[in-house]
Amino acid sequence: MGTVTLINNETGEKFEFDLIDCKRGPKAIDFSKLFETAGIFSYDPGYGSTAGCKSTVSYINGKEGQLLYKGIPIQEIVEKYNFTDVAKLLITGEAPKDKAESEAFDLELRHRSFLHEGLINIFSAFPDNAHPMANLSSAVAALSTFHFDHKEMEEENDYQTMARRIIAKITTLVAFSYRNAIGAPFIYPDVSRNYVENFLYMLRAYPGGHLKHTLKGEEEITDLEVEAMNKIFVLHADHGQNASTTTVRNVASTGVHPYAAISAGINALWGPAHGGANEKVLVQLNEIGDVKNVNKFIERVKDKSDPFRLMGFGHRVYKSYDPRAKAIKNLKDELNKKGIKMNQRLSEIAEKLEEVALSDDYFIQRGLYPNVDFYSGIILTALKIPVPLFTPIFVIGRMPGWCAQLLEHVKNPQARITRPRQVYIGD
Ligand code: CMC
Repeated sequence: MGTVTLINNETGEKFEFDLIDCKRGPKAIDFSKLFETAGIFSYDPGYGSTAGCKSTVSYINGKEGQLLYKGIPIQEIVEKYNFTDVAKLLITGEAPKDKAESEAFDLELRHRSFLHEGLINIFSAFPDNAHPMANLSSAVAALSTFHFDHKEMEEENDYQTMARRIIAKITTLVAFSYRNAIGAPFIYPDVSRNYVENFLYMLRAYPGGHLKHTLKGEEEITDLEVEAMNKIFVLHADHGQNASTTTVRNVASTGVHPYAAISAGINALWGPAHGGANEKVLVQLNEIGDVKNVNKFIERVKDKSDPFRLMGFGHRVYKSYDPRAKAIKNLKDELNKKGIKMNQRLSEIAEKLEEVALSDDYFIQRGLYPNVDFYSGIILTALKIPVPLFTPIFVIGRMPGWCAQLLEHVKNPQARITRPRQVYIGD
C-alpha cells in the first residue's frame, strides 16, 4: 500500500492519502476522509474516476476487453455454465459442483417461479400496449408487498430466499408483462421445464399449455433455442458498477425493501444509454434498411452538431472490443450455421456498420467498439422474441448480478447511505 500527497497550491497545505491495492487493475486513492482532513471534496460528474464500493462480483479490464465473474473469465463461464449455475455462482459465491446440484438449484427456482394471484391482478390495471419495462418495474415494486418479510434480513437463509425468489419470479413477470401488453392470456409456469425453457414456454404457449408443433411433429421450443437463450442471459449477468447496479446499491443504501431497490434498477436499465440500447439498435438497423445506406448513416453519427449516436457502440469502461459483444457475435454465426436463421439483411447491415466504424478515425480515436447490445437483438429476433422484450431480457440476465451486488452492500456493516456532494453554482 502506498500513499499520494495532495498539495493545495493556494494554501501550501499538504495532505497524505492511502493508496488501495485493488486485487486486479489500477490502484485507488482512498478519498473517503478527504473532506474531513482537507476541507475540500472531489468533483467527478458521471463518476468516471470514482469507486463507490469494494466488490468481488465481477471485474472488467476495459483496455484488454476482459470480463470476469467471481474471478472466472466470461469465455469460460459461457462455455461451462448455464444461466442458473451462474445465478448460483453470483449470489452464493459458488457454482453448482455437479449436475445434481445444478439441477436442484434450477428446480428450486422453478418452484419459486409462481406469482401470488393478487399480484397477477396488478397487470389488469395497466393499459394495453404499455411498454413491458414499465409494467415490470411496477410489478417488481409490488412484489415487495407480497414478500414484505425481506425488508428485514439477518441470516444467510433470509438473503438467499430473497434473491432466489426474485430471480425465479422475474421470468414469469417478464412473460406476464408482455402478454398483458398484447392482451394475451397468461400462461403459468410449467415446473417440468427448466428455468430458461420455461421462460420461452410462458411467452409462446397457448392456453392449456399447448405449443405450436413443427411439421415434423417436434415441440416448438428446441434445445438449441434454450442453449442460445441461456448464453444471452449468462452474458448479461453482471457488469461492475454500471448505472443500474449503482442505482440498486444507492437505493438499497437507504434501507428500503430490496425489491424496491431492484425496481429502481429496472428503471435505470430502461434508458437507451444503458440496457434500452438493445431495442434501439434494432430500430436503427431497420431504419438504415440497406447496406448501401451505411456510409451515409455513419456520417450522421459523426456529425457533432447532431446528438445522434450509433446505438450498441461505445462504453464507459471498454476502450477495446467488449468481450460480451464478441461472444454474442460468435453465437449469432454459430446459431445461423446450426439452423436458427438470422435475418440476413439486418445481420449484413450490422456487420457493415461495424466494419466501417472500426476503420474510421472518429471511432478509433474515441475507442468506440460494439458493445453487448449491438448483435444481441439479431439473435433475439431469430428466437422470435418481440422487440419491446429485448430490455426485459436484459433484466432477467442482470437479476443475479443486482442481487449479488445488493447483498454485498447490505451485508457490509461499514456500508453507508450514498450521499454525494455537489459543486454549488447557484446564487
Ligand atoms: N456513437 C457516436 N459517438 C459516440 C458514441 C456512439 N455510440 N458513444 C460515444 N461517442 C462519442 C461521444 O460523442 C464523445 O465524443 P466527443 O469526445 O467528441 O464529445 C466520445 O465518444 C465519448 O463519449 P461519452 O458520451 O463521453 O462516453 P460515455 O462513457 O459517457 O458514454 C455510452 C458511454 C455507452 C453511454 C455511449 O458510448 C453511448 O451513448 N453509446 C450508445 C448507447 C449504447 O449502446 N449503450 C449501451 C451501453 S453497453 C450496455 C450496458 O451496459 O448498458
